[in-house]
Amino acid sequence: MSELRPETRTVHLPQPPLEGSRPITVPLYQTSGFVFDDPAVFADGMNRPDGPFVYGRLSNPTVRSLEEAVAGLEGGVGAVATGSGMGAINSVLLGLLRPGDHVIAQKALYGGTAGALNDLVARFGVEVSYVPEDDPAALRAAVRPSTKLVYLETIANPVTQVADLPGMCAAAREAGLVSVVDNTFASPILCRPIEHGADIVVHSTTKYLGGHTDVLGGIAVFASDELHRKVWKYATGLGATADPFAAWLTLRGIQTLPLRMERHCANAHELALRLDAHPAVAAVHWPGLPSHPSHALAAKLLPGFGGVFSFDLVGGRAAGERFMSAVRLALLAPSLGGVETLILHPATTSHKSLTAEELARHGIGEGTVRVAVGIEHVEDLWADFEQALSRS
Ligand SMILES: Cc1ncc(COP(=O)(O)O)c(C=O)c1O
Repeated sequence: MSELRPETRTVHLPQPPLEGSRPITVPLYQTSGFVFDDPAVFADGMNRPDGPFVYGRLSNPTVRSLEEAVAGLEGGVGAVATGSGMGAINSVLLGLLRPGDHVIAQKALYGGTAGALNDLVARFGVEVSYVPEDDPAALRAAVRPSTKLVYLETIANPVTQVADLPGMCAAAREAGLVSVVDNTFASPILCRPIEHGADIVVHSTTKYLGGHTDVLGGIAVFASDELHRKVWKYATGLGATADPFAAWLTLRGIQTLPLRMERHCANAHELALRLDAHPAVAAVHWPGLPSHPSHALAAKLLPGFGGVFSFDLVGGRAAGERFMSAVRLALLAPSLGGVETLILHPATTSHKSLTAEELARHGIGEGTVRVAVGIEHVEDLWADFEQALSRS
């Protein structure tokens, strides 16, 4: 092809010859589409999530590597990676529900999910009943002929109630309902909901899976091929699927997930114990503490209690605001699951779309402070918390 002109050569770049060796890490396939030798293979890839790679919105090798990695960790048959956690949650809800369907959700939910359910009610005539996360009898009593789906969170945000996954998923299955579990707070290192009977697991991979506060992403993992195909079709049609660079960063984060989870949990344990004993603190909400309502269930279900807790100060909202202004090492910022310790005020940030009644349903107080504990040295974190407590 030596006769090609510069205008053509600059467009058609040489591909690296991969013969006899291959990259150690998963390569970043930053391409929006793929080239085919055979038109029949091209056509085949359009129709299924595990087919040949055709077009980036449908599939991409880096994204599929992430999907297979998380499906493997969760014990699912397949996964759909999305642009954010909300992309995964909305793809599942919109992909599986129709107007008039009924959903049973646990009372304490991530604010974005609570908002998405409210939106389904207002715009699509979906009905939602709320039950406690650990009450299979209440779930059974809430089932209607139109009920299609049960929505749970392994560890709820921010008051860290733990769902009775075996009991709730069994009750859902008995009634022929699809159970969906948001496993973001536990990560597959602490819990694999499919082993407890869940049909779909969703994550904000922005959090522990990514782990470095530098990438947004989400994923839905499926226990059956049928659900996988349905949600893949919806998510690709909606345009919610993941970008390869985001998938690549998330894969890189996943390689240290078990190590990070161990440190997140150990640091949270130490800080929760010390805060619980501090005279300025009214209550600490962390399932590792025997005083937490979910403690017995969490001890049975989880090998660690997670890296997020929340607490209320004796001085209420004003003291909480003073604490958040006084910390220096912990950062006042949204999100969780990264290497840095982040704090926020749920009532005015992550859960600000909720009414006062909904906040109470979630167990969120006016002055509740949420802490997403990072992997710093715990004594440095405690020194920061102690100096902030002395000013609040
Ligand atoms: C439990 C949980 N689920 C879902 C989400 C939404 O994820 P994303 O922000 O990646 O859309 C969040 C975000 O904070 C979350 O905490």
